[in-house]
Amino acid sequence: MSGRFIVIEGVEGAGKTTQVARLTRWMGERGIAHLSGREPGGTKLGERIRDILLSGADGAVPDRTELLLMLAARTVFVEQIVRPALERGLVVISDRYDLSTLAYQAFGRGLDLAEVRRLNAFATGGLRADLSCVLDVDVDEGLARGAAAGRSPDRIEATGRAFLARVRDAYLRLAENDDAVVIVDGRGSPADVQNRIVQILVDRFPETFGASAG
Ligand SMILES: Nc1ncnc2c1ncn2[C@@H]1O[C@H](COP(=O)(O)OP(=O)(O)OP(=O)(O)O)[C@@H](O)[C@H]1O
Ligand SMILES: [Mg+2]
Repeated sequence: MSGRFIVIEGVEGAGKTTQVARLTRWMGERGIAHLSGREPGGTKLGERIRDILLSGADGAVPDRTELLLMLAARTVFVEQIVRPALERGLVVISDRYDLSTLAYQAFGRGLDLAEVRRLNAFATGGLRADLSCVLDVDVDEGLARGAAAGRSPDRIEATGRAFLARVRDAYLRLAENDDAVVIVDGRGSPADVQNRIVQILVDRFPETFGASAG
C-alpha cells in the first residue's frame, strides 16, 4: 500500500477534531491527495454504532460490549475506507483509531491489555497507522475546552475525571515503546498545535508532506 495513514489521538477536548480539520485543509492547499475520517464512525454503519456508543440512550453498556462495538465500527472503517484509500495512494487522516481502544477500554475500563491488543489486531487485520499523534493536554484543560464550547459530556466523557486521567497516562505510556506514536504538546493556540504536527509529518515523511510533495 502506497498511501500514508495518520491518526490524531488524545483525551476529550485535546483538539483532535480541530486538528484533523486544519490538517485536511493544509493538505488540500498543497494538493496532497487525502481523505479524512473519524472513529468510531466514518461510514454509515460506523456512525450508527457511534450513536449507540456515545448517546447513552441505550442505558448501561458493559465494558466488553463497549469494546466489541468499538471494534465492530473499526472493522468497517478499515475495510471500506482506510484500506481502499491507502491502496489508491491517499493520505488517510483519522480522528482516533486503535490507540484509543488501548487507552480507554484497556487502561481506562480495566480490560486485559494483551487481550484488547489481540482483538484490535483482529479488527484491523493488522493495519497500523504510520503515525499516531497524541495531542497531550491536561484532562481539566480538555474538559474546560469542551465546556467552553457549550458541549455536554457524552456517555464516555461523563465517566469522570479519574477515568480520563488514566486514559491520558495510558497514552503517554503507550508512546514510550512505540516509534509510530508521538506525543504532541496540545497546549497553545490551534495554529501552534498544527505547526507542531506539520513539523513532525514533514520530518518523518518528507516525500509525502515536504515542500516538494503533492
Ligand atoms: N489549541 C486550542 N486551544 C483552545 N481551544 C481549542 C484548541 N483546539 C481546539 N479548541 C477548542 O476546544 C474544543 C474541543 O476541541 P476539539 O473538538 O477539536 O477536541 P476533540 O479532541 O476532538 O474532543 P472530543 O474528544 O470531545 O471529540 C472546541 O471548541 C475547539 O474549538
Ligand atoms: Mg472530536
